[in-house]
Amino acid sequence: MGRLGEFVVFFMVTLFVAHVVKTLIFIGHFTHIVNHSPGPCRVIEVNGSEDLALLNDGLVFVSSGLRYRLSISYDPVLDTREGKILTFDFNKADKNPVELTLKNFNRSGFNPHGISAYQDPSSGAVSLFVINHRPDAQAIEIFDFERETHSLIHRRSVVNELIWSPNNLHAVGPDAFYVTNDNLFRYGTVQQLLYMYILNNFFASNIVYFDGFKAIEAMSGVHPNGLAMDKDQSFVFASATHDNGVAVYRRRRDNTLEASQVIKVGAHVDNINVDPVTGNLWLATIPKILDIVAYSKNISHPSASQVLEVQLWKSSASGIAFPYHKVREVYRNDGKELSASTSALVYKSQLLVGTLSTNMLYCEVKYY
Ligand SMILES: *[C@@H]1O[C@H](CO)[C@@H](O)[C@H](O)[C@H]1NC(C)=O
Ligand SMILES: *[C@@H]1O[C@H](CO)[C@@H](O)[C@H](O)[C@H]1NC(C)=O
Ligand SMILES: *[C@@H]1O[C@H](CO)[C@@H](O)[C@H](O)[C@H]1NC(C)=O
Repeated sequence: MGRLGEFVVFFMVTLFVAHVVKTLIFIGHFTHIVNHSPGPCRVIEVNGSEDLALLNDGLVFVSSGLRYRLSISYDPVLDTREGKILTFDFNKADKNPVELTLKNFNRSGFNPHGISAYQDPSSGAVSLFVINHRPDAQAIEIFDFERETHSLIHRRSVVNELIWSPNNLHAVGPDAFYVTNDNLFRYGTVQQLLYMYILNNFFASNIVYFDGFKAIEAMSGVHPNGLAMDKDQSFVFASATHDNGVAVYRRRRDNTLEASQVIKVGAHVDNINVDPVTGNLWLATIPKILDIVAYSKNISHPSASQVLEVQLWKSSASGIAFPYHKVREVYRNDGKELSASTSALVYKSQLLVGTLSTNMLYCEVKYY
């Protein structure tokens, strides 16, 4: 090998090492976790609490029992889990969550993931939308909430060829919603895992809108996970996996989306919730990606948790949607108190944090 050959090899090795180090930094491998919380906290024992959805009166829906593959092997205890929807009431915060009865619904293989509640502005009727990785299909189950009997009555299943790897959604009407496909490949396939680790560098996924009858691709060429909207339903916020941030989109009249900005937060953003009072974003993030992969193989492995608030000032009518914003850290933990945070929301100075496959955390919000 001549001098030039040696140089080329040296150059390639350097590029490769630089890429690996950059990736390790990006996925938080060297991130140091300093524990802090916004006030007194209490761990609430549940078998998974991947997503949370809040009603105006302080009642929270919790999706529990998700079986989601982050690697080839996963913790066998997850296969014994039963998919459930629970409620937690911020007005009785010392009480444990209560399971909802599912009526008119085939529970076999129920594998609930992202959820979203829609409250009819005039009648107050509540519908709950639940992503269900069913054995036979990727479905969005729409339930009507019946408060008196504490049950969910199944109304319809939406199965559509444009919805192949749903992760999170936001309801905009009794039958309409935006939903993210977090993967280019169908949920539960080997290609899905390959995409998760390698192919996503070359291909992107999308956000889909369903109007009650048909689905359209609302935004293509993106890497989304969690999704939420502002109260007026004019903006969509979706996690931007490749940017460690939140992508902000303007909703057009035809329900397609226009990219406006990315708010970087320095960690992988999972689910996003909008505080109905302030309009601020509440993010649960995954500060250390390798730890959540280890956790998915063994849920006793601690995986760090983090909650961030993104304060948004008034939106602008054109150009960058939110020129003024500020990111504040509310909670951070090495995983020993709370492992693998995936969703966070607030109600009257109280915080609830959900996790991929384990407990929830309730905190009083006094200082942060
Ligand atoms: C969690 O699941 C285990 C069985 O795997 C069960 O013994 C336990 O009661 C469940 N906990 C809750 C809070 O549902
Ligand atoms: C319920 O769902 C399971 C799994 O998708 C399916 O095998 C079964 O036939 C369904 N049962 C009924 C009564 O539809
Ligand atoms: C899971 O992790 C815990 C804590 O790190 C360890 O004690 C346990 O042996 C592990 N279980 C398996 C099956 O590896």
